[in-house]
Amino acid sequence: MADIKKIGILTGGGDCPGLNAVIRAVVFKAIDNGWEVAGVKYGWKGMLNADTVPLTKKDVEGILPLGGTILKTSRTNPFKVEGGAEKVIENAKKMGIDCLVAVGGEDTLGVANKLTKMGFACVGVPKTIDNDLGATDYTFGYQTAVQIASDAMDRLHTTAKSHDRVIVCEVMGRHAGWMTTDAGMSASAHWIFIPEVKGSVDECCKMLKARYERGDRYGIIAVSEGALFSDFDVEAASRETDAFGHVKLGGVAKALAKEIEKRTGLETREVVLGHTQRGGSPLAYDRVLGTRLGYKAVEMIEKGQFAMMASLRGEKVEAVPIEEAVKELKTVPEGYYKVSKTFFN
Ligand code: F6P
Repeated sequence: MADIKKIGILTGGGDCPGLNAVIRAVVFKAIDNGWEVAGVKYGWKGMLNADTVPLTKKDVEGILPLGGTILKTSRTNPFKVEGGAEKVIENAKKMGIDCLVAVGGEDTLGVANKLTKMGFACVGVPKTIDNDLGATDYTFGYQTAVQIASDAMDRLHTTAKSHDRVIVCEVMGRHAGWMTTDAGMSASAHWIFIPEVKGSVDECCKMLKARYERGDRYGIIAVSEGALFSDFDVEAASRETDAFGHVKLGGVAKALAKEIEKRTGLETREVVLGHTQRGGSPLAYDRVLGTRLGYKAVEMIEKGQFAMMASLRGEKVEAVPIEEAVKELKTVPEGYYKVSKTFFN
């Protein structure tokens, strides 16, 4: 086993159901190995500020059902701060942190990968409700977020039906349509717009009119926050970017609802699910996946498998290079989306 005395763990990027399951698993397994665990506060920001708390089994008691992250999080990128990466490494040495478990999406893991190359050993755990990381079948948090979106759309059905309305539901996921496709399919949305396939608003409007004419006088439209269209120019409500250069999306449902109402004359409202999809207690699936991935991360440290990420491959949890996970976004294949189109009716 690698010669380790203390490890650190941080959670970076957007919070996500199941983060606490990973933290708990890492703490339990590391302590069983005789290691100390430093909980780094606010993601990479905590490494820049040497802001850590010691974590014992007692500290992680009862956190499994909790949403969010007991360590807090931020979108801080140490490579965007002058001398930031060097500061992280210097602080790790000062605090006696031999290596670090970075729990996050492509941004957090990308930083972990670069820092490992610079000499600070890191391993990764894939987190994101967007499910857009490569080299893993699923990221933890995804199933919970899809369930939340699906439940919300189920509720919208009854309201839309009672009022003879069209309701456009905006789903998170950035430039990947996994959540919108799965939640839309699960909640029998009548049309699904995603970023991967440019959708036609005209076709959607024709379908809605046909529904109303045959007496099904309501419609549920699921739209990804980053959806693209073949015949509608949607201006994102915001062009602000975060420290990793990602545009802050939001506003497509409002624009689309207005456009549908204009083209069809049908009363159309919008609902933005937003951060409700990241909040609350994780499903059992994500608690278990988070636990397995956290356990594996510690095993990877034991074996000195740095710059690697714990990954779900079929039923197995394996170590894969972080490089492979972050090299390109995992988006919805056309064939997958095609299944949902059967029900655009
Ligand atoms: O990556 C997760 C995610 O929830 C995306 O789906 C969304 O676009 C983004 O984070 C929102 O980030 P923030 O909470 O910083 O606005």
